Amino acid sequence: MNNKLFNSILSDDLSRQIAHGHETPVYVYSEEVLLRQARLAKAMPNAYGLKVRYAMKANSNTSVLRILYKAGISIDASSGYEVERALLAGIAPSDVQITAQEMPDNIGDLYRAGVLVNACSLAQLEKFGKVSPGGEVSVRVNPGLGSGHTNRTNVGGVSSSFGIWHEYLDHVFDICRRYSLTITRAHTHIGSGADPGVWEKVALMSLDMCRSLPDVAILSLGGGFKIARNEAETGADLQAIGIPLRAAFEDFYQATGRKLTQEIEPGSFLVGNAGGIIATVTDLVDTGEDGYRFIKLDTGMNDIIRPGMYGGVHDIRTLSASGIQAEKTDYLVVGHCCESSDILTPMPGDPDGLRPIELNKVNIGDLVVIAGAGAYCASMSAKNYNAFPESAELMIREDGSVQTVRRRQTLEQLMQNEINVID
Ligand SMILES: Cc1ncc(COP(=O)(O)O)c(C=O)c1O
Repeated sequence: MNNKLFNSILSDDLSRQIAHGHETPVYVYSEEVLLRQARLAKAMPNAYGLKVRYAMKANSNTSVLRILYKAGISIDASSGYEVERALLAGIAPSDVQITAQEMPDNIGDLYRAGVLVNACSLAQLEKFGKVSPGGEVSVRVNPGLGSGHTNRTNVGGVSSSFGIWHEYLDHVFDICRRYSLTITRAHTHIGSGADPGVWEKVALMSLDMCRSLPDVAILSLGGGFKIARNEAETGADLQAIGIPLRAAFEDFYQATGRKLTQEIEPGSFLVGNAGGIIATVTDLVDTGEDGYRFIKLDTGMNDIIRPGMYGGVHDIRTLSASGIQAEKTDYLVVGHCCESSDILTPMPGDPDGLRPIELNKVNIGDLVVIAGAGAYCASMSAKNYNAFPESAELMIREDGSVQTVRRRQTLEQLMQNEINVID
């Protein structure tokens, strides 16, 4: 679950070759790593069946969606637009579930087309009921427990707006009665991390809730399986997490006679360590003897915002243009946006802190590879800030060939919807 395999596939030589043929910065993904992660996810221990949905917000590139879909993974979409994007990528509506902060106005049409609906608030449930009376629905519940490494990634507990607060089930039943809705699926996602104990706790709380939801046949425990993006981090082991979960589902069956299907919804786990960014060193500056040495890159928060947004630490390696690696020194690595939060070497989990990292000494023009950039980078960034275009995305196919899966945006495309009303 770390990025060793990716770094061996996107070797120094291949990185140089790619940078020779493509403008940097460029995202590079590995089909082999995507398929390995899909296999690991599907092999998670379970009692009565497992469905894996890919949280496509992590990386919604059509080729990524299709590789995972062909590997037997369904889709979780976070907006009506993501749903439509998945459908345009050729995913069957019945393999798409929407779990959104904003329920789209065409939810009735999507539902009638076969898309599954996961209501994340009482208002959403009501909105769905009005346009689809008699329908089947899932409810996302905030079980009152939070996890995640910072407040910015925590999606459960009192400080989270995600899901229906667990004490409001009576209101859920009221709405369901009014619109003759049947709750066939239940869902929690609290960003549980790597600790099997936390996953077990969430499962027990969620199963307990399912006792009062008699028609529920599928329980989704969401995503949030932590990955190790660098040597210091520990990733989630799905085998270790799955064993107590399997026991919890079995115990639920013993107590209730109901065999629930287990669902998980990973994003990062499937794609995070399947991608990286190749960038070029554009400048080197320092702030004197007591200050820092900085590497400035031709990428930044417009391509990768995780470090500046929540102190996400990515593995960074330098490649000298000559191929000869020089002595090492400590650097802060920063992006090219005119924004002091455009940093790539934050303190772990603290975007306000700076942590120099030891790298081979570089010159302007040298290359840098930022790993762990398959999830929440191309799909979540300060796109087009400073008018930097969206970078190209490449896929290293299983056979080793490298294909473009998104072209670099042109300035014309960047401005195409603007209307000049001034003579
Ligand atoms: C509802 C839901 N499911 C799944 C995920 C995927 O999380 P991760 O990428 O941490 O696995 C998210 C992420 O925010 C989410 O909100």
